[in-house]
Amino acid sequence: MRTSIALVSLVPLLAACQSSLGTADAGSTTPTDVVTVTDTPVVTDGGAPADTGPAADSGLVEMRSYTPMGCAHTVTATTGSHDNYVGDRTTFGAMPTPANVHVSWPADPSTVAAFVWQTDAATYASVVQYGTDMAALSQTAVGSVSTGGSGANGVTIHETHVCGLTPDTTYYYRVGGEGHWSAVQHFKTAPAAGRTDYNVNFVVAGDSRDNFTVWQQVQQRIMSGTQPPDFQLFSGDAVLLGTQQGAWQSWFTNAQPSLAAAPFVMVHGNHDALAINYLMQFAQPQNASASQSELYFSFDYGPVHFLVLNDTPPNADYAGEVAGTELNWIRTDLMHAQANRAHVPFIIAVHHKPAFASSQHSADTDTVAVRNAWPPVFDQYGVDVVFSGHEHDFEVSNEVDGTGASVSGRRGTRYYVAAGAGAQLYTLNGGAARPWSAYYESVVNFLRVHATMTSLEITPYRMDGTVINQGHLTFTPRS
Ligand SMILES: [Fe+2]
Ligand SMILES: [Fe+2]
Repeated sequence: MRTSIALVSLVPLLAACQSSLGTADAGSTTPTDVVTVTDTPVVTDGGAPADTGPAADSGLVEMRSYTPMGCAHTVTATTGSHDNYVGDRTTFGAMPTPANVHVSWPADPSTVAAFVWQTDAATYASVVQYGTDMAALSQTAVGSVSTGGSGANGVTIHETHVCGLTPDTTYYYRVGGEGHWSAVQHFKTAPAAGRTDYNVNFVVAGDSRDNFTVWQQVQQRIMSGTQPPDFQLFSGDAVLLGTQQGAWQSWFTNAQPSLAAAPFVMVHGNHDALAINYLMQFAQPQNASASQSELYFSFDYGPVHFLVLNDTPPNADYAGEVAGTELNWIRTDLMHAQANRAHVPFIIAVHHKPAFASSQHSADTDTVAVRNAWPPVFDQYGVDVVFSGHEHDFEVSNEVDGTGASVSGRRGTRYYVAAGAGAQLYTLNGGAARPWSAYYESVVNFLRVHATMTSLEITPYRMDGTVINQGHLTFTPRS
């Protein structure tokens, strides 16, 4: 369920890419068996965008927040952004077959999942049937629906959360409602905390922008490996402009086989533009920040603690957010992660604008603001690796301290750029790599990462299947 910081000016959000915008860079029970409406009275629409929801006598219940049945987390939407309703089991419009189904984690990846999909605007049936036996989807949940965002008034976004799942287990599921189901898909929950035999695989890609041909090729390559990923991290800038629903439709459609099978973790990029469309269509953890709900958060997956951060703050408030509230949250989160290293030995941060890279944005004001704010804290708490996008290429830094200087005699942090999953490739800024750079290549790429309790192995790939050898690194736990 999405929050509503979407109507902020797009100008500061896209400032870093301004020069490129003109170019290529530029069951049968009622819903109340699963959802509890926790706020009354009914929310009224804020006036923009227009209310495209059901008529007042439709019987649908408008809501602000609810706790999905069996869950410990609350799903909240912000007043005035768009219409949010309790979903049902039986309301179907003219095109009720679910499209663009995808799965993500709004809370603990080992026990919780959220399913998001689209239908025509008149369909409110929001049922998920799921189970561990493909032939017997014995469990059912009903979620919520929302509409709104530029160009999105023709679709309803359905979002249904399920909790109490068994860790490290393959679940089969279908979404929709009776007579109008999606195909049966499957995904796997994360391993339980406290194990010592983790064998985790995930991929990192970013900056698809509006080149959906390359985006589809990258997704096909990612899923065609001998070891399909447990999940994907996307380093931001999915589309050219996040407020354009048509672009999101293409983005989802071209990644459809993988998005329904491997949970997707989204990092917000400047081109995603804090748009309602972005926030409405991805179900991510909401509890880290009230003002940036779902935009920054952390989670453990097996032997890795992940910080997912937002470096395009509301109102371009770098001092107050990036170097203020969010930095304070990062510090507290890393303090806890540091204390838990015996159980979760690796720490990875992911955000869009790379602090230490060498390409077109490396001297931008917003990039410098991120560089000054976060790396010293990453260094202080021993973040092993940082993944970013924004620069449409591949790059890996030396092992550096919080200023970008190479370390000696101790561990530092490696900064990767894994972007260019469609956006026009960049070249080096000024024709030369920066001093912190270990290797740069202007190439379409993605990373495969394999993590156990004793090693974190990163392997970057080109689209022809070859490995970018200079970026192939293995990390061991810090002592
Ligand atoms: Fe970009
Ligand atoms: Fe970007």
